[in-house]
Amino acid sequence: MYQTITSAYIEELRQILGNEYVLVDDEALQKYGHDETEDLQFNPEVVVKPETAEQVSQILLLCNKHDIPVTPRGAGTGLSGGALPVYGGIVLSTERLNKIIEIDERNLQATVEVGVITQVFQEAVKEKGLFYPPDPSSRGSCFLGGNLAESAGGPKAVKYGVTKDYVLNLEVVLPTGEIIWTGANVLKNSTGYNLTQLMVGSEGTLGVITKIVFKLIPYPPYDLLMLVPFFNAEKACQAVSAIFKAGVIPSCLEFMERDAIDNTLKYVDINFPIKDEVKAHLIIEVDGNDMDVLMKDCEKISEVLEQFECDEILFAESANQKDELWRIRRAAGEASKAHCIYKEEDTVVPRAELATLLKGVKEIGSKYGFRTLCYGHAGDGNLHVNILKDDISDEDWNHKVPEGVKEIFDLCIRLKGTISGEHGIGFVQKEYMNIPFNQTQLELQKGIKKLFDPNGIMNPGKIFV
Ligand code: MLT
Ligand code: ZN
Repeated sequence: MYQTITSAYIEELRQILGNEYVLVDDEALQKYGHDETEDLQFNPEVVVKPETAEQVSQILLLCNKHDIPVTPRGAGTGLSGGALPVYGGIVLSTERLNKIIEIDERNLQATVEVGVITQVFQEAVKEKGLFYPPDPSSRGSCFLGGNLAESAGGPKAVKYGVTKDYVLNLEVVLPTGEIIWTGANVLKNSTGYNLTQLMVGSEGTLGVITKIVFKLIPYPPYDLLMLVPFFNAEKACQAVSAIFKAGVIPSCLEFMERDAIDNTLKYVDINFPIKDEVKAHLIIEVDGNDMDVLMKDCEKISEVLEQFECDEILFAESANQKDELWRIRRAAGEASKAHCIYKEEDTVVPRAELATLLKGVKEIGSKYGFRTLCYGHAGDGNLHVNILKDDISDEDWNHKVPEGVKEIFDLCIRLKGTISGEHGIGFVQKEYMNIPFNQTQLELQKGIKKLFDPNGIMNPGKIFV
């Protein structure tokens, strides 16, 4: 169905980009043939590194004319295989589209190219007293464009929302090579269909996003961070919704079960004594403009937590202690990967159903014979379930474990949740898309894909089977 890349196409790509930015050597094909998803590897035939939207446009024009698959790629930190070139063809790396074009302090907006590293952007706006909250664990290396493609979240999402909540307008190159803007640089917009939000989370299947206009907010100057041990993991989950009910919205509310924290501590090499009886922790942060208000919030939270039989609450006393705690939490995924091959599920349910989800995940794990490390954004009801391969046979890993995953996803739907909160469907979850969606819902989505990309060149093999 797709054409392979001939030397004539390579020559055309070199005409567009210059020799240096068209890579066909084995090392490059290997490097751009994987992201952070499991141990999956699909080498592209060529890697291209455009620097402008116009160059992207010429590349897509060529691909569309000759049925060549194009896989757009950010930093390759994705966890659902969105950047894997499963049909070969071209990997279009956005690493040279890396300029912060403008930070507009009058309107609290910023215009950036998609290859800017998330943390670099956060620090640039912070220097101006502004805040861009979405903060995936990989923020030190992931690109804003990748965050947008997957609608990434992170710990701050519970108070501040996810990537999509900060996107006002996008420059997109369509498969036809046309360059469009999807909306306007405004905070409200009821003008026609929302093409901007359609692009967010579309995982590179509709076009290539080249520029983003973000909304920003003032930087909250104060925060307090607490670590709360629990003797029962389900009680920790139950405490989560009670905190909101008591009238406090924390700026982060993270959960880590005991196994996940133990595994991470080995990986980050931090000595952090935990009592044997402790089965889970909540990490709770509040932030704002007034320290007295934050102290009162913490008092309220403590009162709630006591009802759920927590152990003594620990407050991070220095910036160093805060950093260390966040380092542990943010390394949980990497630590799972370092332990063994694993499948990462990104389950999400209404917050008050979190304890039921955790209990169900453990029961399903026992039934199918797999161990899970669970942690995540409890305040969002978003639980990362890392299924460890350990000594499971390849046969069971490939056939029996997916049955267990299906049961976990069925449970999410029964609890009125869904199968991905922030990692996307990409390549590895597409076989489960018939769990959250029926035929009508899937056909509507496929129709949108067809309208944007009738020849199916944009990131084929993703989202839909
Ligand atoms: C996280 O919350 O740490 C991220 O989503 C990454 C991960 O789970 O591996
Ligand atoms: Zn996460």
